[in-house]
Amino acid sequence: MGTVLAGATICGSSGSFRADLRMDGETIDAVGFGLARPGDDVVDLEGRLLFPGGVDVHTHFDLPLATMSSADDFASGTAAALVGGTTTVVDYATAFRGESPSRGIEAWHERARGRAFCDYGFHLALTEWSEAVSAELADVVSGGISSFKLYMAYKGSLQVDDGTLYRAARRIGELGGLLCVHCENGDLVAERAADLVASGLTGPEGHGRSRPPLVEIEAVRRMIAIAELAGCPLYVVHVSTAGAMEAIVAARRAGQSLFAETCPQYLLLDESRYEKGGIEGAAFVLSPPLRPVGNGPLLWGHLARGDIDVVATDHCSFTLAQKAVGLDDFRLIPNGLPGVEHRLSLLYSEGVVRGRLSAERFVESCCTAPARLFGLYPRKGLLAPGSDGDVVVFDPRQEWTIRASKQRQKVDSTPYEGLDVRGRVESVYLRGRQVVEGGSLLDGTPQGLYLRRRPFPK
Ligand code: URP
Ligand code: ZN
Ligand code: ZN
Ligand code: ZN
Repeated sequence: MGTVLAGATICGSSGSFRADLRMDGETIDAVGFGLARPGDDVVDLEGRLLFPGGVDVHTHFDLPLATMSSADDFASGTAAALVGGTTTVVDYATAFRGESPSRGIEAWHERARGRAFCDYGFHLALTEWSEAVSAELADVVSGGISSFKLYMAYKGSLQVDDGTLYRAARRIGELGGLLCVHCENGDLVAERAADLVASGLTGPEGHGRSRPPLVEIEAVRRMIAIAELAGCPLYVVHVSTAGAMEAIVAARRAGQSLFAETCPQYLLLDESRYEKGGIEGAAFVLSPPLRPVGNGPLLWGHLARGDIDVVATDHCSFTLAQKAVGLDDFRLIPNGLPGVEHRLSLLYSEGVVRGRLSAERFVESCCTAPARLFGLYPRKGLLAPGSDGDVVVFDPRQEWTIRASKQRQKVDSTPYEGLDVRGRVESVYLRGRQVVEGGSLLDGTPQGLYLRRRPFPK
């Protein structure tokens, strides 16, 4: 017997229409009318919207950083994802210096295995380059990890030089991989931060000032050139400035295989958050930093036009106690914000309801494009026969307020505290099984599957 979701509006990246949707086993088997068979469970969803399960391709669960780990592990992070309508995450497995790719990947499997509530895959972040690393990558891609990440920032830990960027991009392009890059000039950041601290500016305000827009724009321009020379498709993670988008739009117009991601925090928040100083400012420290008022609306425009392909969260949560470690020196504040739980609600409410984003662009950027770019489509990101039964039942009429005290994310703050939101995730199906009802997980047993992903389509 199957489940028929009846009477709702099905929203896809190419339009919305009224139809019923039937799931049988783990997949969708029909979209249309008169689908119910004897014994089916028919759910009346008049007035609701159905979205494909959200796909968040930028998370950092259980990320070890200096002396700590990010607050959400795979259990709490994927549970929060599901409650918020995200049924698939792709997390950044990292091979730290001295670790082989396979060691880095195995460490992430150990973190996630048996703990994930939603389906998950891994990218592989590399922190150094050698013949041995290069040789291992063919097996990494054929094993289902087809996207990689390199950092141009975080001098002394994750940052790599231009030679490594070029060598890695050549090899990744050759293997049919997609290269994701954190574009900020880490050398400039280190010098500027040292000057600020020496001048007595040690609070969180210094974080934003140490990495102004040009730090990102320069790195984006440089990386675009490196990727073009290397013949490798490039995906710029967490683009935060309109200036970086100008460079991306120009290179795309010239035919380069180039994609852009932004995050809700760059669309919705601005740098005034740092001016409060103290722990209130530290709570908003992430990289790239929040930007001046006026930048967000430009990013919304790029997202609406399709220049920005994907909205992901860069979920990397730290408790206020963890953030407080850097109260006397902003360079020591662990970087990152929580967000995996609220991405769909934020983008629907602040985007679709406010007229900044069509429903089609909302589904495309939060569900379909990330699945397509990262080798998961049409299994994920689409409501059609044969796709996984990952369905979000969304009630566009419900109004609620985001509160840290009510969230599932295992962290004691949210950047969106007190924000009134219209539209709410009511229930969620993961591979044909209902896993969320009325905003709560139905089952305490993690059911998430590890997903092997296909190479990037040439
Ligand atoms: O501040 C951030 N974004 N922390 C997470 C790691 C990264 O740079 O993506
Ligand atoms: Zn059946
Ligand atoms: Zn980053
Ligand atoms: Zn990140």
